[in-house]
Amino acid sequence: MYEAIFSKYAPTKDNLIYILHEIQDQHPQQYISEEAISAVSEYLSITHAHIYGVLTFYSMFSTKPRGKNIIRLCESPPCFLKGSEAILHSLRDILQIKVGETTPDGLFTLELTACLGVCGNAPVMMINEDVYGDLTEAKVTKIIADIKGRI
Ligand code: FES
Repeated sequence: MYEAIFSKYAPTKDNLIYILHEIQDQHPQQYISEEAISAVSEYLSITHAHIYGVLTFYSMFSTKPRGKNIIRLCESPPCFLKGSEAILHSLRDILQIKVGETTPDGLFTLELTACLGVCGNAPVMMINEDVYGDLTEAKVTKIIADIKGRI
């Protein structure tokens, strides 16, 4: 199942992150399953514990199934000072989920992240590959409604 990905990378530890990225990107629920961890462990001859260490260190990886749209709200100080906490409240209210959860329809997962590198537009969030800045509660409501409208 993962052969196509493995065939692109030599079986060395240095390739671990690249392999994990590809596995996660190709999974419809955007996560790394237990089965994938076992396959990678075997291919790279490294322990499950080592792989878990990497998966928990980098916030972009998930070991739980996630929604079609992954919302990552920046929680670093510049965004916090510009009101990211209020944006988080709005997202929780609109989606009716807490951080780390996925909506029951599988459409949205809510996560927090460190600085996204666009602090000039704080507060900022990413939804999948798209960046949204200068967020207000009204703007967030519209963004989520627009995404729902497209589905
Ligand atoms: S602190 Fe939020 S984007 Fe930099």
